[in-house]
Amino acid sequence: MVEDSIFLKSLRGEEIPRFGVWLMRQAGRYMPQYRQLRAKARDFLDFCQNPTLATEVTLLPEKLLGVDALILFSDILVPLIPLGVEVKFLPQKGPVLKAPPPEEWKDFEPSEVEYVFETIKRVKYLSEKPLIGFSGAPYTLAAYILEGETSRDFREIRKLYYQNREKFHFILSKLTQMLKTYLSEQIKAGADALQIFDSWAYTMSPQMFAEYLPYVEDIAQFLKEEAPQTPIIYFFRGSGHLYQIAGQKLKSVDCFSIDWTLRIEKALEGFKNKAIQGNLDPTVLYADKKTIERSVIELLTEVSKNRKTLYVFNLGHGLAPDMEMEKVKHLVDTVKSFYL
Ligand code: CP3
Repeated sequence: MVEDSIFLKSLRGEEIPRFGVWLMRQAGRYMPQYRQLRAKARDFLDFCQNPTLATEVTLLPEKLLGVDALILFSDILVPLIPLGVEVKFLPQKGPVLKAPPPEEWKDFEPSEVEYVFETIKRVKYLSEKPLIGFSGAPYTLAAYILEGETSRDFREIRKLYYQNREKFHFILSKLTQMLKTYLSEQIKAGADALQIFDSWAYTMSPQMFAEYLPYVEDIAQFLKEEAPQTPIIYFFRGSGHLYQIAGQKLKSVDCFSIDWTLRIEKALEGFKNKAIQGNLDPTVLYADKKTIERSVIELLTEVSKNRKTLYVFNLGHGLAPDMEMEKVKHLVDTVKSFYL
C-alpha cells in the first residue's frame, strides 16, 4: 500500500526503518534512457504533452535508481498555457515566454491540460510508488512571465514590486487562483503528495518574501481543506536567509524542501514539528564515490541525532545533465543503506 511507503510515513512523522530518498530532476538528460525517449518527441513541450511518453519517463527512476517516490514528468510552465501565455523551450536557451497583460489572461480551464492528469492516472495504474505532483510557486511563475526568459536575478518582478505594488499583487493573486485548481485536480487524478517549486525565492529580500508568502499559505491551506491527507512540500532556494520567515508564515505546509545555503542544524531547530527535505549540495555528484558517500552519511548522521522521521533525503536543487548516472545511483544506495 502506498500509504505504508517510507516517503509518506516520513512526511507524516511515523516510524520508519530508514530515511526515504528521491531527487529533483531524477528523470532528466543525464539518463541515457531519458534521452532515448526524448528523441521520440518533437520538442520538450510535446514530450510533456504526450501521456504515453510522459508516463514512461516518470517511471524510469523507479527501476534505474530505486528511489522511494516518483515525480510527475512535466514542467512548471505548462499550466500557464491555458491562461494565454505562449511558452517555448529553446534547446540552448531554455524557456521563452510571451504573456498578454494580466487583465487579459483567460480563466484557467483544467481540461486544457488534461494530458497532465492523464499521465498521473497512468503512472498510478502502473506503479505502487508514491507519486508527487507539482507546480511552480506564484513568485517563480510571475518571475518567468515578467522576464520572458530565464535570468540570473529576475529584476523585472522585483522592479514591479517597487514600481507598482498593486499590479504585483494582482499577478500573484491570479496565479494563486490558477494554482489552487491545478493542484487540486492533480490530487483528484491520484497524486499522493504535492511539491510547490519556488526556485527563484532567493532573489527576494526578506521583507518582500514575508509580504508574498500569504499566497503560498493560501494555496496550501486550500489544499489541506480539500485533501487533508495529501502532504504539501514547499521547495525554496535561498533557505539560508529565508527559512525563519517561511517557518512563521507557512503554517499549512507539511514539509520544507531546503537548498544547501542553510546549515542542517538550523533547519532541524527552525522546523521543529515539520518535515524537512533535501539540503545536500548537488555538485557533490562531481566528486568521487567515497566523497559522495561521506557527504551523505555526514548529513544523515546529523539529522538522525535530532529525529528519526520527518526527513526525506534530496539534493538542494535538481540533477544536472552532465552528472553520471552511476554516481547518482550510488548516492541513492548510500541513503538506503543508512539504517535508523
Ligand atoms: O523533477 C523532475 O524530474 C520532474 C520534472 C520537472 C522538470 N522541470 C523537467 C524538465 C520539474 C519538477 C521541473 C520544474 C521546473 N521547471 C522548475 C523548478 C525546479 C528547478 O529546477 O528549479 C523550473 C525553474 C523550470 C523551468 C525550466 N524547465 C527550465 C529553466 C528549463 C531549462 C533548463 C534545463 O535544464 O534545460 C526547463 C526544461 C526542463 N524541465 C527539462 C526537464 C527534464 C530539460 C528539457 C530537455 O529535456 O531538453
